[in-house]
Amino acid sequence: MTTVTISIAIQKGGSGKTTTALNLAAYLRNQGKKVLLLDLDPQANLTQSMGLTDEPEPNIYHIFKRLASGHDAPLDYSLFQINEVDLIPASLELASAELELVSVYGREQLLRQFLSSAKTKYDFVLVDCPPAMGMLTVNGLVASDWVLMPLQAEYLPLKGLQSFMRSLELISKQLNPQLQVLGYLLTKFDARKNMHRQVSEHMHRLYDRKVFETFIRSNIALAQAQERGMDIFRFAKSSNGAKDYEQFGAELLGRIR
Ligand SMILES: Nc1ncnc2c1ncn2[C@@H]1O[C@H](COP(=O)(O)OP(=O)(O)O)[C@@H](O)[C@H]1O
Ligand SMILES: [Mg+2]
Repeated sequence: MTTVTISIAIQKGGSGKTTTALNLAAYLRNQGKKVLLLDLDPQANLTQSMGLTDEPEPNIYHIFKRLASGHDAPLDYSLFQINEVDLIPASLELASAELELVSVYGREQLLRQFLSSAKTKYDFVLVDCPPAMGMLTVNGLVASDWVLMPLQAEYLPLKGLQSFMRSLELISKQLNPQLQVLGYLLTKFDARKNMHRQVSEHMHRLYDRKVFETFIRSNIALAQAQERGMDIFRFAKSSNGAKDYEQFGAELLGRIR
């Protein structure tokens, strides 16, 4: 099997990107897959969710710096192995990368260049993007085969989605023709709420089979697990969160086969 690279991206924070990266990686690990997680968000939520508390060094920021100055960045240089999932962490310094990369030649291609050799020993690379369409997210999307978009079933995220889709189209046209939409995943879902049901119907009308049949229910255990630096399968394996991410993972595998 060749490596499958998936960016988890959407312009809005609090959509469930990081939660999905963390728990999808854990699901795939449980299926015996080799997974590399990449934290591209200066907030470093994924890094913390994997249980790393200090600012880990070196991290993805240092990889960007090395690549930007024409040096190689070997994979083992910044790799952390946690519960059989590999992680390249982020730190707050990464925030300055957006600006520092502005004048670098081929700046959109740096991550792709890095992953082309680094990804070969993995079945999956999951890239957790920041909640903005800046140079970091563009790097994630240019390096990916698929983009996965988690979103909360509210009206506001739906509005932001349209501008995100326009940017996606530009990126796939100009920078990465291979990029495909893997799907939309509804998160923090509460079927008792009218609004959530309406948004779900609306999404299915607009995007049809691109909307995952599985939705991730609102489940406090998902937030608690993350706070403890654990994935949901290790933290509470019979929770709704674990059931939903298990079902989602299986649906996702069915899609990329
Ligand atoms: N299905 C869910 N049920 C309850 N809380 C959730 C769920 N998904 C995510 N959360 C919590 O919501 C917050 C934002 O989620 P997160 O995955 O960090 O979003 P993003 O990465 O898109 O900003 C986190 O505290 C997370 O633990
Ligand atoms: Mg996040």
